Amino acid sequence: MNPNIAFFDSGQGGLTVWEAVVRRFPTLNTIYLGDNARYPYGNKSNDTVTRYASEASFFLANRNASLIVVACGTASSVAVRTLQNLFKLPIIGIVEGFCADAVKLSKGQGSIAVLGTRFTVKSRRFEHVLNELGIPSASIWQRACPLFVPLVEEGVSPGPMADAASDMYLWDIPSDTSVVLLACTHFPRLARSIANTIEKRLQRPVTYINADGSWQLTPSQSNAQPVFLLDSSRAIVDAVSDFLANHPNKSGHMTGEHKLFCSDAPDRFAEVARLFTTMELPAAELVHIGP
Ligand code: DGL
Repeated sequence: MNPNIAFFDSGQGGLTVWEAVVRRFPTLNTIYLGDNARYPYGNKSNDTVTRYASEASFFLANRNASLIVVACGTASSVAVRTLQNLFKLPIIGIVEGFCADAVKLSKGQGSIAVLGTRFTVKSRRFEHVLNELGIPSASIWQRACPLFVPLVEEGVSPGPMADAASDMYLWDIPSDTSVVLLACTHFPRLARSIANTIEKRLQRPVTYINADGSWQLTPSQSNAQPVFLLDSSRAIVDAVSDFLANHPNKSGHMTGEHKLFCSDAPDRFAEVARLFTTMELPAAELVHIGP
């Protein structure tokens, strides 16, 4: 069997990360698992998410994964360190590289805002990593935005409903915010609504940064310092790139094959998956995860 770069999420949100990696490395062989039978992870306790993430990793490890990318902000926040102790193969989550990118972009100025699920925020994992990188807690603003996840899964794109949710969550974002982290892999689909709210509140332009580059998302004429809205895929693409450079034997026979697994209702999984990627996906195979 060819080596695989494996990804998992509670559902389809992690495809935003998968797509960025596959676009950068088109010959990679990948496997993607969406644990949609147990979605959402973001409202579940640390113990439950850690158990689900361990079972997902076990499934992927048994399918010849050479690297597991935890493409879920919640599992990355609460479970990655446990997974790294449990498994021999390398496992990366979205938190560390993402925070390092944020600190570089902020240049130590202003507040860093973290938007995630309920349990991502409750875990305070982003805060701890940012603290280790020299950002004091007083300069970190965290907001749980759980409603964004079902909105995206229902196919709601930026427009009145998403704008209303964004206004509800971000009405009090600090005026000195320099960088906003989309700490849930579903959230990039609502980047435009989030940017509109930030622009309205802070009267500053918003520059969206992902693995492909940067875009000014708001039409603001202001010359004020932009707020950077940052997607987690950029740091993951860099981490996969490092992995491939350091493990040339694990990337020798790449043929660009992709496998997609889900733990419930493959037709519905495929329908929602199309909201997250414009790339062609293989048929999703139904699998049982866990005991
Ligand atoms: N994609 C998941 C995350 O990044 C959110 C969805 C969920 O709540 O399971 O946290």
